[in-house]
Amino acid sequence: MNICVVGTGYVGLVTGAVFADLGNDVVCVDNIAEKIEMLKRGEMPIYEPGLKEMVVHNMNDGRLFFTTDLSEGVVRSEVIFIAVGTPPKENGETDLSQVEEVARGIARAIDRYKIIVNKSTVPVGTGDLVREIIECNKRRHVDFDVVSNPEFLREGSAIQDTLVPDRIVIGAPSQTVAMTLLELYASLERPMIITDVHSAEIIKYASNAFLATKISFINTIADLCEQAGADVTQVAKGMGFDKRIGPQFLTPGLGFGGSCFPKDVDSLIHTLTNRGINADLLKSVMTINKMRARHFVEIMKSKLDTLTGKTFGMLGLAFKQNTDDIRDAKSLDIIDLLYEANATVKAYDPVAIDNSRKVRPEVIYCKNSYEAVEDVDALLIVTEWNEFKFLNMEKIKSLLKKPVIFDGRNLYQQDRMKRLGFEYYSIGR
Ligand code: UDX
Repeated sequence: MNICVVGTGYVGLVTGAVFADLGNDVVCVDNIAEKIEMLKRGEMPIYEPGLKEMVVHNMNDGRLFFTTDLSEGVVRSEVIFIAVGTPPKENGETDLSQVEEVARGIARAIDRYKIIVNKSTVPVGTGDLVREIIECNKRRHVDFDVVSNPEFLREGSAIQDTLVPDRIVIGAPSQTVAMTLLELYASLERPMIITDVHSAEIIKYASNAFLATKISFINTIADLCEQAGADVTQVAKGMGFDKRIGPQFLTPGLGFGGSCFPKDVDSLIHTLTNRGINADLLKSVMTINKMRARHFVEIMKSKLDTLTGKTFGMLGLAFKQNTDDIRDAKSLDIIDLLYEANATVKAYDPVAIDNSRKVRPEVIYCKNSYEAVEDVDALLIVTEWNEFKFLNMEKIKSLLKKPVIFDGRNLYQQDRMKRLGFEYYSIGR
């Protein structure tokens, strides 16, 4: 099938690469010329394991193209995916200006029947909006349909999540239109849910908000465990065996960051409030999440008496492992709180240093974990990178001024840390 994907961010680029890999002819469009030039040279604008290999391989085989020309992409394709950014506005509402701009561009170029698919995370009703914009601005008398096909990929495992998704959601105006999308995904052999456009749009927000709720829930229980002398890891395990609850997304810590959960929950709160529906549950999810970094720094303060004049070795800057993304990363909040308290931060992350340097230039960035902990008052674990689990802890101990660890992601076993002679503080244990 001839496919056009508009937007080469996480969702667009991964979707385009995977569709090409499945044997389709794919053109990826972006209005940032430098990004398109980079991609044509086989360089990735984002860090995502396995992506570069897949893009280069499909480009070399002539199934994947990059262009800044939206009209070219529209004319040569039967299905057009909109995968542009939907950033939040100040008030939490989703900014749809990029989606609207693309819809106008599609309207100008559309020359025969096409299916337009909203892949970006967009509030309920956006499918209607895209339909209206194309209808009002199209230059030829052609028919088209608008479909919602939300994406559930996670950064760091985006390729695997796209190839083996838990489910594929297709919200289409008719069974016939849904069939085209079904055909596109058929070879993945994954569960599909075919529904109306509005329901598909809500499925995405409801899923992300539910997962965010699980995280804030377990973080609340972690606070209780800290006070009551219980172990949240055991509590989460005990809860997770109940099939109705499940073990996933019950890892306590510094809370959720990234480009999706905070923005999607805020957007859903905005939609609910606008429609006069009580949004208190989700407001609490966000409030609890925002307090996590402060809670962590308060633990540090209570154990060290003061933070003033102290230096900390921070391991992890990315909002989670396997990504260089620092959007809404907890590291940023912790850095701010520590500098406010007149402390200094030395930091290391396997891939997120360049991004962090741009927004937190005051931090001393280090080449590896050991350099970051040399001569500092305590080690801080902020991102759950696998490589931090396998550090030489004897060496870490010899480099630290005092053997103190504040582990915001519960990476280590308490008794092992104790045996090694560390003063070890983690979350909810
Ligand atoms: C999320 C959704 O999982 C994905 O389906 C959607 O398409 C986009 O948003 P992503 O933001 O890439 O994906 O990361 P995810 O792995 O879900 O983690 C989000 C945040 O929650 C991270 O900051 C992570 O550290 C935190 N988290 C996750 C926890 O604190 N505890 C958990 O148990 C799980």
